[in-house]
Amino acid sequence: MTKNELANISLPRHIGIIMDGNGRWAKQRGLERSEGHKKGAEVFRVITEYARDIGIEYLTFYAFSTENWRRPAAEVSAIMNLFRDYLFEAQEREEENKAKGMRIRYIGERSALPEDIVKLINELEKNSADKNAITINLAVNYGGRDEILHAVRTIAKKVEAGEIKAEDIDLNHIDGNLFTAGQPDPDLIIRPSGEYRLSNFLIWQAAYSEFWFSDILWPDFTSDDLDKAIIDYAKRNRRFGGV
Ligand code: FPP
Repeated sequence: MTKNELANISLPRHIGIIMDGNGRWAKQRGLERSEGHKKGAEVFRVITEYARDIGIEYLTFYAFSTENWRRPAAEVSAIMNLFRDYLFEAQEREEENKAKGMRIRYIGERSALPEDIVKLINELEKNSADKNAITINLAVNYGGRDEILHAVRTIAKKVEAGEIKAEDIDLNHIDGNLFTAGQPDPDLIIRPSGEYRLSNFLIWQAAYSEFWFSDILWPDFTSDDLDKAIIDYAKRNRRFGGV
């Protein structure tokens, strides 16, 4: 989109993206599934840069779910390697990313990830914490139900310790204990590849999100597709339960 076109549009502040269809993209070309993930990771980089340029404030990518461990070990390790490559690259480009105001955050259960990846995530999160042009949330070993369970346990411990009363628990306590604490809920969730479900992605935060589905496979997704999703979103009438 050009700056002029953007000026007339109500942009979503937070977009969630389910990067789906990598396996099918590879299969169509007679390639290994990992080749699809590789191309998917390239598209992820392009979309991240573009979203930042047009003024999206929060972008959450679903890269690996708590259920994805069931995939063949070679595929899991190929995805982890791509994730690691990106984190290394982000570390190498730290100054450039800082100048662009890019904040990197991880959402999910980090304790199950390889130790070196956890170390890279912790460093990137710490070093980019004061950046505020765009926040990139990387959902790896992420599950919405796990996230809610984690929040409930944290709150229950506070009740046990006598810090709060059960009847005083409100929605803010839940929001404040999710991995996305402090961020706005996603306005728009994009799922390519012809699937029409959330698959445990941001299930609490998506209560009032708009959805955009498409048959495009993630490795074929372009910034023009992101524009289309945003233009469609801007035409929606969001009432949040009101009239
Ligand atoms: C879903 O497609 C995709 C994944 C489970 C992995 C996505 C991971 C990446 C794009 C790379 C690593 C991430 C970062 C943050 C750089 P699928 O395999 O389920 O596709 P299919 O439904 O066609 O089989």
